[in-house]
Amino acid sequence: ALVVRQRMRCSGHWSKATAIVKELEEKCGTPIAKLRQVADAMTVEMHAGLASEGGSKLKMIISYVDNLPNGNEKGLFYALDLGGTNFRVLRVQLGGKDRGLINQEFTEVAIPENLMVGTTEGLFDFIASELTKFVGKEGPEYQLPPGRQRELGFTFSFPVQQTSINSGSLIKWTKGFSIDDTVGQDVVAELSKAIEKQGLDMRVSALVNDTVGTLAGGRYNNNDVVAAVILGTGTNAAYVERAQAIPKWHGLLPKSGDMVINMEWGNFRSAHLPLTEYDHSLDTESLNPGDQIFEKIISGMYLGEIVRRALYRIAEEASIFDETVPPKLKVPFILRTPDMSAMHHDTSYDLKVVRDILKNVFEISNTSLKVRKLIVELCNIVATRGARLAAAGILGVLKKLGRDVHRDGEKQKTVVALDGGLFEHYTEYSKCMENTLRELLGEDVGASIVIEHSNDGSGIGAALIAASHSQYLGVDES
Ligand code: GLC
Repeated sequence: ALVVRQRMRCSGHWSKATAIVKELEEKCGTPIAKLRQVADAMTVEMHAGLASEGGSKLKMIISYVDNLPNGNEKGLFYALDLGGTNFRVLRVQLGGKDRGLINQEFTEVAIPENLMVGTTEGLFDFIASELTKFVGKEGPEYQLPPGRQRELGFTFSFPVQQTSINSGSLIKWTKGFSIDDTVGQDVVAELSKAIEKQGLDMRVSALVNDTVGTLAGGRYNNNDVVAAVILGTGTNAAYVERAQAIPKWHGLLPKSGDMVINMEWGNFRSAHLPLTEYDHSLDTESLNPGDQIFEKIISGMYLGEIVRRALYRIAEEASIFDETVPPKLKVPFILRTPDMSAMHHDTSYDLKVVRDILKNVFEISNTSLKVRKLIVELCNIVATRGARLAAAGILGVLKKLGRDVHRDGEKQKTVVALDGGLFEHYTEYSKCMENTLRELLGEDVGASIVIEHSNDGSGIGAALIAASHSQYLGVDES
């Protein structure tokens, strides 16, 4: 009798577990009709954000980039790329029309977590000192003539109210960063101060968002690139707008007629977004409650954490591991998205990757295959929602560009440059995103839209923009 009772209790618990998974699946549902509503809402918000400052949750920031690279860029330039979990320093040698990108070198450093929530000075001193070390190691071939300053493009991947191509003040931090005293400060002035303190003679010639850098890097390689999307720690998009279609722009009409817009779409929000209790609690307990809602359901910083929250509830209410909830399951952000991705991609018949991650991350051993399968299912639900919504966002941008419909006789390709660790490494996610976009666009239009991986385009893009805003332009066209 005891055995029977025990079994019954187990199956009772198991049905609770599957009920919670089913509920999650329903709440995360993204049928095509809903995705179309999301895309339409995105287009509407884009218009509102362009119309007036503060007109929408979408900031639609004017980047001051009115000319994308055309291949003529020439010379030695540097770039700093700050905004994800890692920070990079780059050096590129540009050879103009004939020789293109001659050489590129970079180093990558993890940002110590305490610096992400410390002081402005601490963070900028750190990046300036890494930059100085990088320059200090270079050979005589990179010596500049006396009196000539090195020039840098600064990729700073946070919302910045840009005031010129090389100045702008931080609107707010996003992702894992939170340093109060930086908000409202000109980040180029802060960086320049830190560089000067290091005794390095370098000028910051351009300040760009990573999406803008990726757009520039993408355009350098392919003339048909008109938009760029980052799916990484955070998510965002930039695209080429007609300056005349930007009512809030009161400056001169650029010669090109174009202006690159940094959308800051991570802050998009709409009643059409499928949100769950896990999203609400994640948001409330985050560093930026109420902000970046689209980002919090789509991007790499959060996907693993959503899965952890769902799993925690299942452990608590259905006791799938033990009568007590394993303590590590309570730790926010302990399940990183790369681990979630590894579990999701586990093709072994006994799901050993899942087993090992449960053991290493949560210190949970002896899991049954059934439980491991349930966890893969959780990963699938959360990743699918994110990927499909990302596709809807891209459709929104294509609509604004008028590239979502087929025009007879039109041969023009539309290329969207994509970058970010999530897109690059989480294959199920990127596959799902691309398939959903095809589904949304239909065959005819789908054939003319290309998603192109722009590998680390954001750093090179910043260097290219620095080159086209060099203080020595026209000085030595040799
Ligand atoms: C966050 C930032 C945005 C950046 C994106 C991708 O959304 O606010 O500026 O482009 O992450 O890194």
